[in-house]
Amino acid sequence: MKSYEKLLLENKAWAAEQIGRDPEFFTRLSKLQSPEFLWIGCSDSRVPANEITNTAPGEIFVHRNIANLVVNTDLNMLSVLQYAVEVLKVQHVIVCGHYGCGGIKAAMTNNDLGLINKWLRNIKDTYRFHQAELDHIEDMELRANRLTELSVEEQVMNLAKTTIVQHAWKAEQRPVLHGWVYGLNDGILHDVIKMDSKTTLIDPIYQYR
Ligand code: CO
Repeated sequence: MKSYEKLLLENKAWAAEQIGRDPEFFTRLSKLQSPEFLWIGCSDSRVPANEITNTAPGEIFVHRNIANLVVNTDLNMLSVLQYAVEVLKVQHVIVCGHYGCGGIKAAMTNNDLGLINKWLRNIKDTYRFHQAELDHIEDMELRANRLTELSVEEQVMNLAKTTIVQHAWKAEQRPVLHGWVYGLNDGILHDVIKMDSKTTLIDPIYQYR
């Protein structure tokens, strides 16, 4: 059997198992999705949103890209954000990075990697904002870990700079924005930053009326 054929076979077994446990599972999900969470995570195969949070289909709306970036010209991410906030009315948006991220590590080198240079440039900018702190960390793995945390903070702040979030904060005092970092070594999520409509003051430069 070819590897991809195994996926199709496993899918049949999975679907049967779900129906065995809950006969209405697919009927219910096919009519409606009302997830409470939007997850913006890394594309890394080791950080699957549902598995690591022990959630089922229907519970998390997911967007993933390399190094879980929130880039203000990314129509893909912004469309996901707008739909999740304005139509699905999610209560929480989670940006989830992870230690050992290849994107973060690549951004810390001077290697010319082609097209992806442009994407990773966003991480280099975050490095520049925190260069004094980061250059002080001798151990390169620890330095990458810290950059991972700082980048997640930056992405959460990027969410707060969007009119999508600012409008929702003004009208409905949601969603709460979270920055988490996942440990590949131990499977644990670490809470790095939280921003909400009540306690967060957005830099006036980025505030829209
Ligand atoms: Co990654």
